[in-house]
Amino acid sequence: MDYRYVSDYQRLGFGLFVHYGLYSNLSKGEWAEYAFYQNRQAEYEKEISAFHPAEDWADQLCLTALSAHCRYIILTTRHHEGFSLYDTCGLSDFDAPHSACHRDLIREYVDACRRHGLLPVFYHTVIDWHSPLSKGQKWDEYFDYLRKSIAILCQNYGPIGGIWFDGTWGLPQGVNFPADIYTMIHHYQPHAMVINNTGLTALGAKGASQEIDGVTFERGKAFPVQPGSRPIVGEVCDAITDHWGYAENDLSQKSPRELVNILLDARGAGCNLVLNVGPKADGTVPTLEKEILKKIGLFLATNHDVVLRYPLSSLKTENAEIYHDEKTDTYYAVIRNVGMLLDQNVTFGSENRNVVLADGKVLDGYWLDNNEPIDVIEEGKAFRVRPFRYGVSLGARIAAFHLGDKK
Ligand code: GLC
Repeated sequence: MDYRYVSDYQRLGFGLFVHYGLYSNLSKGEWAEYAFYQNRQAEYEKEISAFHPAEDWADQLCLTALSAHCRYIILTTRHHEGFSLYDTCGLSDFDAPHSACHRDLIREYVDACRRHGLLPVFYHTVIDWHSPLSKGQKWDEYFDYLRKSIAILCQNYGPIGGIWFDGTWGLPQGVNFPADIYTMIHHYQPHAMVINNTGLTALGAKGASQEIDGVTFERGKAFPVQPGSRPIVGEVCDAITDHWGYAENDLSQKSPRELVNILLDARGAGCNLVLNVGPKADGTVPTLEKEILKKIGLFLATNHDVVLRYPLSSLKTENAEIYHDEKTDTYYAVIRNVGMLLDQNVTFGSENRNVVLADGKVLDGYWLDNNEPIDVIEEGKAFRVRPFRYGVSLGARIAAFHLGDKK
């Protein structure tokens, strides 16, 4: 088996996660139907006649992803409400072509991703509050509907980055997701990632099927994934806010600095991060979230090769992760929580930390964000952590250095 597509996906490192559906019209999060419309499903589903994304929503989404240096997007093609953003080709009339916009939004999304050099990945849920088959617990028939739905996604949009399943954790005890659906995906799309989100309670759990290419850490801390008989990617999914779908009364936007640290945590464990935004009714990402993503892009502007491209090195130090670019034999130390210094009245944490190397001697080095040399001390066994100069405070700093005398 050629698993190159798995390492290719891992090398992408950072993706944008997007929850968009009828719930976006209601501005109360993606579980709005469940939370507020119990026994009023028909009323909820009327939103289909008001669902009308802006013409350029997909292009704008791609530009937002690029502003943060994301290299792939995972978009909800169908969430728990059961509404599909794609043309279900007669399987259901609860899809975007039957909504007010009369468009196939997945076609627009895939085309836009290709124009912008981003890899399109499809989120698809297994939970379905709309389908009478799922509601009636007619599992064989429901899984057949699901199988046909996934076949459409695999056959109609050209090569895709993967299918990212959610909601298998919501199936009743004793009901198992049919693994032939995973096999079918690889049959149509040999290079597509098959991922199954194991939810909040089973972070990093490996799937039973050999077809599953990844493990997930939903809103959690990743740990390095041990390859078994085949390579597997770890991926953290987290959201800028508490909700995944747009919620206007959610004030919990994480700071860019916190998000940069979430990204560094994931990469430090050898995993990807896919960071979520919930577009509003017209498909546009809320301004605040857009600005936050731009700030992450600011951090990555000088650091993206280290954080998103180079592998971790086996070099050990305390208080830094070390990445290594084999081509130039350059090492990079990522140091978190670096303060800023001018004089004692405007200081955020003066630095008296050192990065101490367990093996090898530092020959020379410089800070990536301003090209200033690092202060090598203790005869090359360590260097000092320099705070940011006044005017810049990026949270984490990266030092590039070369080693002499490697053991
Ligand atoms: C949870 C939520 C779901 C969301 C998913 C994203 O499973 O139930 O709404 O889509 O997380 O990872």
